[in-house]
Amino acid sequence: MPRGSGTGPELLTLSYGMAVSDGESLAPGGAVDIEAVEGYEEILRRGDARLREAAAEGREGVGWLNLPGRDIADVEETGKWIAGFDALVQVGIGGSALGNLMLHGALLPPYWNELPRSKRQGPRFYMSDNVDPADNRAIWNLIDPEQTVFTVISKSGSTAETMANFLFFWDRLKVDLGPKKAAEHVVVITDEEKGVLRPFADEIGCRRLVLPADVGGRFSVLSPVGLLSAVALGIPAAKLLDGAADMDRKLAERDTVLENPAWLLAALSVAHYRQGRNMTVLMPYEDALERFCEWFAQLWGESLGKNGTGSTPVRALGAIDQHSQIQLYTEGPDDKLFTVMTVADPSEEITIPETEEKALVSLSYLFGQSMNSLRRYEALSTAAAIAKSGKPVVSIEIPKLDERRLGAMIQFYEHVTALAGYLLDVNPFDQPGVEQGKNYTYGLMGRPNYSAQALEVTELAEKLSLREVSL
Ligand code: PA5
Repeated sequence: MPRGSGTGPELLTLSYGMAVSDGESLAPGGAVDIEAVEGYEEILRRGDARLREAAAEGREGVGWLNLPGRDIADVEETGKWIAGFDALVQVGIGGSALGNLMLHGALLPPYWNELPRSKRQGPRFYMSDNVDPADNRAIWNLIDPEQTVFTVISKSGSTAETMANFLFFWDRLKVDLGPKKAAEHVVVITDEEKGVLRPFADEIGCRRLVLPADVGGRFSVLSPVGLLSAVALGIPAAKLLDGAADMDRKLAERDTVLENPAWLLAALSVAHYRQGRNMTVLMPYEDALERFCEWFAQLWGESLGKNGTGSTPVRALGAIDQHSQIQLYTEGPDDKLFTVMTVADPSEEITIPETEEKALVSLSYLFGQSMNSLRRYEALSTAAAIAKSGKPVVSIEIPKLDERRLGAMIQFYEHVTALAGYLLDVNPFDQPGVEQGKNYTYGLMGRPNYSAQALEVTELAEKLSLREVSL
């Protein structure tokens, strides 16, 4: 049976107040005319068809659409092998790190590494992404190399941060275990052709998984990049892919902008952007979705920030940011589109206990109430306060935060981002700005053939410090 062909319950509900044709608003907040949104329908229809054709032809950047149907036997096998170890250290950055953190944050119990082994379905997990000696050394000191697997992940197989971090661990590992045994603790995930990691894996004879050439870094979470650590930590990867396939299928069945939530969110985002709302705030109300915002921020920012266009993704978390950012959101400038994200049926519940101290009697309105209800009302209050201040709010509700729904949400946001790229007339699948930064770093670090980049960045840096003030 093809993935995702079951008829399951809903994957998500998107709601939004917008002006109707007679000028009446369904919600008080920052309305975009329904006609403006419908005006994008034809481009969206063409963009959607182009996406699906490009994926079928294996064109670069669009391979994420094919991931739900891929065979993941190699990922399952390697992941189950890693599951037997005490720790997993992943070395990677950007699209080779954020998706893993998002999946773990959403689907594993909180404070995973601190749980006893009997309560964990897999090893402790550490991410080495930033080039931070203190962090890398701390990770090394927390693990037993004999009992640890290191995954080094890089699509390009050359990113300086990833290579530097990996060289540190590889050196330590060889010293402790010897080169032959060290290689048995390494798994490489990289492109079939590019970079140094593939020949390195062949040279040392370690395990290797392939990141398909047509899948870009920030779109790779449902490839071996994201799925290997998921399987190792006990997350059923096939269910994530089922959810993604379900989402693809359901979206393909909807061909009007008001019925297809991915088209609608892409159209709303671009319509509001063109009305001067150059930021898009994503605000879930579950701690488990905090990392989803970071993953989304990379997806949105790197895909759309081109040719002087693109809205800036802003990560927020309810209810924490209700006590930090809402003042700005409601009474600050009207330059943001908000998305408040909630989960209808959360996995845990606490009934707020009663207590008899007289000093606390004014809290009796909380006694016996559900903590999830409080959270739900917080989300509703935030959306209402933003709307009352005349700013636009989208609400997205997921029935449950499980593998299937998360896989669907990933695919949903990838569709929205790609379609917004078509509406903005930018290529959502390249990242020349990221490459520029990488090339400057190579130049500054003395990599052969990057001397022109070194010169350019040095000249620019001099201009950056024409004036200085010190205390
Ligand atoms: O989405 C992208 O292409 C980038 O952000 C990459 O994920 C990031 O730069 C890491 O690159 P790589 O996986 O090639 O090491």
